[in-house]
Amino acid sequence: MVTSRRPSTDSSKQMEDGESGSAASTPEQESKEESDSDEAPQPADGSDTSPATRQPVLVVHGDREHLVRPGEEFGSDLGILEVPTDVEPGATLETHLGTEFRVRRLRGPDQFHHFTRTGAPMVPRDVGLIIGETGIGVGDRVLDAGTGTGVLAASMANAGATVVTYERDPEFADVARENMAMGGLEDAVDVRTGNLLEELDALEAEAPFDVVTLDTGDAPELVERVPAVLVEGGFVAVYSPFVETAKAATKAAREAGLSDIFVRETIQREMQFDDRGSRPSTAPVGHTGYLLFARLV
Ligand SMILES: C[S@@+](CC[C@H](N)C(=O)[O-])C[C@H]1O[C@@H](n2cnc3c(N)ncnc32)[C@H](O)[C@@H]1O
Repeated sequence: MVTSRRPSTDSSKQMEDGESGSAASTPEQESKEESDSDEAPQPADGSDTSPATRQPVLVVHGDREHLVRPGEEFGSDLGILEVPTDVEPGATLETHLGTEFRVRRLRGPDQFHHFTRTGAPMVPRDVGLIIGETGIGVGDRVLDAGTGTGVLAASMANAGATVVTYERDPEFADVARENMAMGGLEDAVDVRTGNLLEELDALEAEAPFDVVTLDTGDAPELVERVPAVLVEGGFVAVYSPFVETAKAATKAAREAGLSDIFVRETIQREMQFDDRGSRPSTAPVGHTGYLLFARLV
């Protein structure tokens, strides 16, 4: 479990089409040539507790960043680092060659970077819009589908909500559970294996939810039935990579009697500052998707 710094967070949704899943991968696997050790992690302190059961932390030295588990030993050109089983964020660890690493816990952007990827994860600007437009926060109960990598579900949990999220692909659901454990979010995010379309009737017993978030190709069909599980004043947010799905979801929201319906596309420009002057990056402005919001009023 070793990695370098993060690639652009805008790459994921642009490289993959909506819910199309690929073989599970992490950005660190994509940049594995930068890793220094492929060896399986070994308990450094003789502990017989499996490192896989303990929540990982980041160890950081300059622009080097590695995801490690308590009890793990990893090697690099900077030396061998033994990670104590009781390692705490804020601590400083030293390799056998005397290089210091600072220990950090994973925050949201670290989760985005380090989670094992299955379904294309939502990028920060789209997550931010969902949280901002729906007001997701402490005490909210959110119903989410599909889980995919779990980035949106984790982000909403980071904001203080508890999340019930459905993933129809059992292998993706398992990966998402591991991702939630990596983020220390297993109590806040309930990853359930199943097709939300088939679960909605049963879910009425657990309703109402404050917000429903949908990132699935069948979102229009789901939107039709959202009022049955949504609290009065609650929101539904739908992410669609294609305008056709956004249009169909809008029609479904109208027919379902939802109010305050609008669709947004998020476009983000990165600024460049150098000796010649300042301007937005000339890199292409990437489309990620359309976000529909509607409210039960
Ligand atoms: C694009 S990914 C979701 C990514 C996720 N929002 C994130 O931020 O990581 C879409 C996922 O939805 C799942 N899916 C599609 N339709 C579904 C449904 N009706 N119920 C549950 N999961 C579904 C797919 O298997 C896929 O993993």
